[in-house]
Amino acid sequence: MKILLTGGLGYIGSHTAVDCIENGHEVVIVDNLSNSKIEVLGSLKQITGKNIKFYKCDLCDFNKFSKILKKEKPDQVIHFAGLKAVGESVQKPLMYYNNNLVSTLNLLKAMELCDCNNLIFSSSATVYGEPKSVPITEDFPLSATNPYGRTKLMIEEILGDYQKANKYFNVVILRYFNPIGAHDSGLIGEDPNGIPNNLMPYITKVAFGKLKQLSVFGSDYNTPDGTGVRDYIHVCDLAHAHVLAINKNTENKGLLIYNVGTGKGYSVLDIVNTFIKNNKVDVPYKIVERRPGDIAECYASSKKASKELGFKAKYNLKDMVTSAYNYEKKHTNL
Ligand code: NAD
Ligand code: UD1
Repeated sequence: MKILLTGGLGYIGSHTAVDCIENGHEVVIVDNLSNSKIEVLGSLKQITGKNIKFYKCDLCDFNKFSKILKKEKPDQVIHFAGLKAVGESVQKPLMYYNNNLVSTLNLLKAMELCDCNNLIFSSSATVYGEPKSVPITEDFPLSATNPYGRTKLMIEEILGDYQKANKYFNVVILRYFNPIGAHDSGLIGEDPNGIPNNLMPYITKVAFGKLKQLSVFGSDYNTPDGTGVRDYIHVCDLAHAHVLAINKNTENKGLLIYNVGTGKGYSVLDIVNTFIKNNKVDVPYKIVERRPGDIAECYASSKKASKELGFKAKYNLKDMVTSAYNYEKKHTNL
């Protein structure tokens, strides 16, 4: 099938492009490069041996984007494009609402114009707000604690309304937990601009001396070692969930929602210690105050994705920390 990936040069999109191609799909990428680099396209070619069609385009530009969609006529679209930094969304809410909502509305309008009725949407575990218990199942109450999370929640609702109005429209909403790690080749991975907010990219920068030390946000949570627990998933496992979702959309089921995690929770210190042990490097850290807005524990029930999509994580924590390290190593001039 022909699959169009919005935001396909970003962290998750690029890994998904590889998996789609390896599963026989044709990939077209649209990205405005606001949080990715054109060099990723060359890396994708190196990994897959295929030339991938790429359009530099902002989805907020309806005229330009709808022409691309009309020309390409994809069978399905995977919508990764969006801004994703929680802290920045609090500082610049209008930028987040504008980019994430307008791009999605434009995408839906353009899809309608060219009769493309199959979509996969990148949502997030953030839509569960502060879950009352773990593991989290898809029917837990939804809420948002910041503008970024609110855009995800609003988009889920927009997709629900649209699907009710258009019975030919199929959409799979994937609620990602915490993707980390990189492709085995070390050619693509997570490369955030500036100082990272998320745990794994921060650890890798400290390991290579680009940042001095990691701050562990809180050690007084009600968790086994007092630090926050999350459901870390290898980005290649997450990528594969999209290929399974493509298959699911062909069953014409309307709207489907799945958590994509491993179902296992690891603490901040589990991650740091596994990283140190497996990569044989030092990661200096200190325990500091809790980060505002953080919750103690968040991990998925992945039963629904397992049963209905056939999803099963292949990679373990060791694979995640070694691939993250290898990617950073390859991109660091030692
Ligand atoms: P990313 O920033 O690496 O990739 C997003 C891509 O979208 C970037 O290449 C960026 O240039 C592009 N983009 C942004 N706005 C655009 C626009 N208006 N038009 C065209 N391109 C645009 O992020 P990622 O980690 O790959 O995340 C992909 C999606 O998954 C995002 O929607 C994100 O909110 C969601 N998500 C990510 C995580 C995570 O931990 N990384 C967790 C949950 C959900
Ligand atoms: C964060 C976002 C979430 C988003 C997800 C993926 C917040 C509050 N939540 O999730 O909305 O979907 O990223 O982009 O920002 N930690 C440290 N030191 C650090 C960084 C993190 O101790 O320097 C800890 C955190 O307290 C947390 C764990 O590591 O316990 C994971 O943090 P992070 O990688 O930022 O992800 P989340 O907070 O789970």
